[in-house]
Amino acid sequence: MTVKVLIGAQWGDEGKGKITDLLSNEADVVVRYQGGNNAGHTIVVEGEVFKLHMIPSGILYENVECVIGNGVVVSPAVLIGEIDKLKTKGYSVNNLKISNTAHVILPFHEMMDKQQESSRSEGTKIGTTSRGIGPAYTDKVSRRGVRVKDLLVKETLETLINGRNWTEILDVTQADVDKVIADYYAYGQIIKPYIIDSVNYLHEQYAQKKRILLEGAQGTMLDVDFGTYPFVTSSNPTAGGACTGSGLGPTMIREVIGVAKAYITRVGEGPFPTELTNETGEMLRTKGGEFGTTTGRPRRCGWLDGVILKYSVNVNSLTSLAITKLDILSGFKEIKICTAYEINGKKIDYLPTDAKELSLVKPIYQTFAGWEEDLTGIREYSALPANCKKYIKEIENIAGIPANIISIGNSRDKTIYRYV
Ligand code: IMP
Repeated sequence: MTVKVLIGAQWGDEGKGKITDLLSNEADVVVRYQGGNNAGHTIVVEGEVFKLHMIPSGILYENVECVIGNGVVVSPAVLIGEIDKLKTKGYSVNNLKISNTAHVILPFHEMMDKQQESSRSEGTKIGTTSRGIGPAYTDKVSRRGVRVKDLLVKETLETLINGRNWTEILDVTQADVDKVIADYYAYGQIIKPYIIDSVNYLHEQYAQKKRILLEGAQGTMLDVDFGTYPFVTSSNPTAGGACTGSGLGPTMIREVIGVAKAYITRVGEGPFPTELTNETGEMLRTKGGEFGTTTGRPRRCGWLDGVILKYSVNVNSLTSLAITKLDILSGFKEIKICTAYEINGKKIDYLPTDAKELSLVKPIYQTFAGWEEDLTGIREYSALPANCKKYIKEIENIAGIPANIISIGNSRDKTIYRYV
């Protein structure tokens, strides 16, 4: 009877897709609990690359039930596209389940997202993924959203969609609105076999002692409550969101695994204390292939931020870490970890929760000697170069929790497991 949560400990793109895929091997049920198709989870199996935006990363195991939880905002078109793609690759997708109470992203939300972003002045832009995430969650919280189950009842769908003044606030006609209603009703018919009451289903699974893995999207620093607001996403990727987005309560959760890159990246706008805008940052981006899975945008890169890591441990109650992309650091002469910040001549070792204040801090670094060796063939922790082990040890010191999984390449086998 285990419930584990997997969370991004940074600004997203930590490699959660690969770690979820690995942990799915020991799970009966994998659940996505927040976010939507702003997420991009990459899984590599026997050289084949799968990029998933809506479907939980456990889907490649046919015996693992994959649930899109109530806290997710669903793009039906993207979801159906992924189902079709997986089917053409030979996956049955019979193991997919979609919560009847998850909210739906409408094309109007996407239009609003783009419109809002382009009307923001320089310095206030968020750099959203333009997938309509913010407007869809806004409608949910405003109690006027469309839920998955509403797609199945034409009259309800019509009432909900026509109940909004789309033709006044967007450059669309009533004919466009009618088309969306027709399209979304059709989508509902396609996804009907997958729709379930996910809250009751998950409690049944829990009662049957099934192993449940809750898969977070984005990351702690993009959390609408705990991230660098307003440069955040519109949901709670943190541990609390795992409960509200699935219906499983906090005392059911046994483990909270934080996924962190061996360095750090961010896509979109907002403060980033350890950002490297020099050739070292460029080297991280090039070696790490740091370009967005969803938008293709180059990611901003920097040294690992220990202050953020510690904060992430605190707000999520992380119990262990999965460190990813350690292999990318081979060949750097020296490697740094930010252990504290300086602001107005004062040293602080906590994360200022105000984005403006965070944009003013200067990182204080601890410097480590690098290593030259290629790590991708290593499977035992003891075989890692000594300097590399010193680096990992310091990450564990800062976090106060063990790094049980170390990833040294994007395929399943390029993984070092410890303390098992
Ligand atoms: P939104 O989620 O599209 O509203 O975007 C809000 C912010 O979160 C922007 O800075 C995005 O770049 C960022 N973001 C959203 N999803 C992801 C993700 O999966 N990985 C990394 N950044 C993301």
